[in-house]
Amino acid sequence: MLLNRFETLAMNNPIRTAIQRHFEGRRLFEMGGAMNGGVALEVGCGRGVGAEIILDRFGADRVEAFDLDPRMARLANRRLVTRGNAVCVAVGDATQIAAPDGRYDAAFDFGILHHIPIWRDALREIYRVLKPGGRFYAEEVLEHALENRLLAHLFEHPREDRFDLARFRDALASQGFRIVETRTLGRDFAFFVADKPGPCDD
Ligand SMILES: C[S@@+](CC[C@H](N)C(=O)[O-])C[C@H]1O[C@@H](n2cnc3c(N)ncnc32)[C@H](O)[C@@H]1O
Repeated sequence: MLLNRFETLAMNNPIRTAIQRHFEGRRLFEMGGAMNGGVALEVGCGRGVGAEIILDRFGADRVEAFDLDPRMARLANRRLVTRGNAVCVAVGDATQIAAPDGRYDAAFDFGILHHIPIWRDALREIYRVLKPGGRFYAEEVLEHALENRLLAHLFEHPREDRFDLARFRDALASQGFRIVETRTLGRDFAFFVADKPGPCDD
């Protein structure tokens, strides 16, 4: 689902950049550690700050990022032009990822899946495109926040089949992920690190 006018403003400003860089990126790094090279996927890259964090903090060699909204993909491309071949940005849909099975060493979701009506399809796709042993880092907005009357008035999100912490954890596990760690911020936000098991994991 595309962002409405208010959420587009909320996502495209220096405060959002600082939160993503100094709080969300740092927390996911504390939980899941560095990539130390390799290729990362970022789903729903927005204006491209996540890709900078993935390169600079997590140490990916390359980030392939996409967003459903061509305007966002354009903003990200503009922001990331100086990164050359280390970044590729496209228009795409997290429920049908245009990549072969097992392409990525890691995948990142900075607040995307709560925008997707059939978010479990996106989890299935993320699992598919990760290499065995690959790691999924996610920051997500929980059902409790979406029920806030002011936020529900200002922002548009799918209403059916939303997730709380337990439902998201269960969906990760049903997909086959091994959960490494989850953390919450109040009842509204959660952070997840989960691995696609490798051939030697039991
Ligand atoms: C809340 S914004 C977050 C953007 C960015 N990751 C950030 O943290 O600032 C959600 C983004 O997800 C994108 N989006 C929504 N549905 C999507 C889908 N099915 N596939 C890919 N991107 C999607 C929207 O266009 C929007 O840019």
